[in-house]
Amino acid sequence: MRVTDLMLRIMASIVQYGARLRSRTRLREAHARASMWTKNRGREAMWGMLVDWAELLVRWTHVIAGIAWIGSSFYFIALDASIKPHPRLDTRVKGEAWQVHGGGFYQMQKFTVAPDYLPPDLTWFKWEAYSTWIFGFLLLCLMYYANPNFYLIDKTVMDLSPLAAVAIGVVSLAAGWLIYDQLCKSPAGQSTFLLAMVGFVLLMAAAFGYTHVFSGRGAFVHIGALVGSIMVGNVFFVIIPNQTIVVRDLIAGKVPDPRLGNEAKQRSVHNNYLTLPVVFVMLSNHYAFTYGTRYSWAILAAVFIASFLVRHWFNTKHTGEKADWWLWPAAAIPIIGAFVLTLAGQPGAQAGAGTVKFADVQHIVTTRCAVCHAAKPTFEGIEEAPKGVMLDSPDRIVTMAPQIYAQAVQARAMPLNNLTEITEDERGKLAAWFAQGAPGP
Ligand code: HEC
Repeated sequence: MRVTDLMLRIMASIVQYGARLRSRTRLREAHARASMWTKNRGREAMWGMLVDWAELLVRWTHVIAGIAWIGSSFYFIALDASIKPHPRLDTRVKGEAWQVHGGGFYQMQKFTVAPDYLPPDLTWFKWEAYSTWIFGFLLLCLMYYANPNFYLIDKTVMDLSPLAAVAIGVVSLAAGWLIYDQLCKSPAGQSTFLLAMVGFVLLMAAAFGYTHVFSGRGAFVHIGALVGSIMVGNVFFVIIPNQTIVVRDLIAGKVPDPRLGNEAKQRSVHNNYLTLPVVFVMLSNHYAFTYGTRYSWAILAAVFIASFLVRHWFNTKHTGEKADWWLWPAAAIPIIGAFVLTLAGQPGAQAGAGTVKFADVQHIVTTRCAVCHAAKPTFEGIEEAPKGVMLDSPDRIVTMAPQIYAQAVQARAMPLNNLTEITEDERGKLAAWFAQGAPGP
């Protein structure tokens, strides 16, 4: 159980890190109380800025590594599909493809059986995958596990302790890989269709489960992390080890077992189909209407189906055969379904009857929102106005009325995890104020 061992060790360090961060926060609070505007305040701001920069750099690296990984996955699947046999070629060569790029011509040949010669500088593709996962996991720790109360725990969904939330998150990622891997090795793994169906149902069960344990946002990021971990697991535990054996056999002059290549190919095709939905899940974090609704898990299901169809269109097109154009309208159907689900599943709030005075609205926004959304936030752990959204003056409140309505009434994504405990009545007042045309003072 190498994986579970590793996961447990990683989890222990995260929890330790979280505890340290929490005690540091408490220390910081004490400092801040003692001398609000002295140099301690400056140090606190510097620490906050440092954490923000760390998060940005980790996110940047994660995205760049992901682009390199997905790029090479798309490239090789397309190359493989475009390889054509030719009588002129060596009998051990399956086929070749001609390409032009950057002013030069490339003649790509694929050997399915041993070539006579393997150069010592054979290029392997693995670090794109590994670094995407490593920096993705770091980001998950920085954003979600170090402070689970912000984005991960939603007490109206399940009243989890921070430790339990982190444990569920990490263990579920490891379990997801183990189940998927066993599924591929089981008899069901022999049939692409059966495997796809069972895999899809299991994945949606995970999405349903996550949305009933974590906040909407935490649930979505975990589906992304789960699928991403399966993909990198495919590279780390199957594709690269199998290829290593094949290369060793070739050097030893033995004929490699074709099963190894087939298994690696199956996993690499899975990865290819999983890229589009994973990227969607990561981006959806910026769109509360996707994860903030009652049917968020069904929206995910629709997006996964649409992504598979679109990816399939590309994969058939690259073979050079007539592409299946019906796949596009077919993919549009689940996307329309997802659109309808976001509308139907919106929690919303009842607009209260009667007119609402601006003074009331200002009071609600000041107490429930401006503790975070101000030039100098007072909420513990928030160092500057999130996303630059400031709601600390009448002017700004009126200008931001549509965003306030969208976030606090429609999607109910704000206040963040309802940390400031806004009431239904107050949401109703915001709704009524917006319906009146959001008048100012
Ligand atoms: C505990 C701190 C906190 C409180 C309280 C809070 N917010 Fe936020 N808000 C955040 C954070 C953090 C983000 C950035 C979320 C992200 O990264 O997607 C945010 C983002 C936003 C955004 C930008 C959304 C986007 O994706 O562009 C708006 C608008 C917003 N909040 C409005 C509100 C309103 C209205 C309230 C009060 C009803 C409120 N917030 C209360 C922390 C808070």
